[in-house]
Amino acid sequence: MIYPVILFTVLCVLGANASPAPLKLPAQIAEKVKQVGSQCIKETGAPADALSNTIPWNLSENEGNEKFLFCLCKGNNLINDEGLFDQGKTMNIFASSDKKDDIAKAFTECNAQNAKDKYETVYKITDCFFKKAPIVLSL
Ligand SMILES: *[C@@H]1O[C@H](CO)[C@@H](O)[C@H](O)[C@H]1NC(C)=O
Repeated sequence: MIYPVILFTVLCVLGANASPAPLKLPAQIAEKVKQVGSQCIKETGAPADALSNTIPWNLSENEGNEKFLFCLCKGNNLINDEGLFDQGKTMNIFASSDKKDDIAKAFTECNAQNAKDKYETVYKITDCFFKKAPIVLSL
């Protein structure tokens, strides 16, 4: 009789650890992201919900969204001209997370994508990162 109880407990613990942890952006970063985000929506003609589809990650892959994402990351000084992320500046966003090691691992695995241009590069890296990193960002 005791065995199913133990099994159930183990599965619950594993399940809880596997689900991504919510992480709210620090207020100062969130403010800047919102500011740059609305500027980038104007500049790139991306849909009005482009920012709320970026954080948390639900951005579909198309040229308009890729250009918006490039503009957003560039405006926050997170990427270089090729669309590759700066590790120090990016990891600074996750400084308060207790999953920093897993996040850094996802960053390293994702920040080397070969895409046809800088817009697709930033999209592919971000998409890979949010699929691997054990966190869900919110604004
Ligand atoms: C994800 O984005 C699509 C548009 O690309 C939208 O229809 C859908 O409601 C979004 N889902 C969430 C959870 O925001």
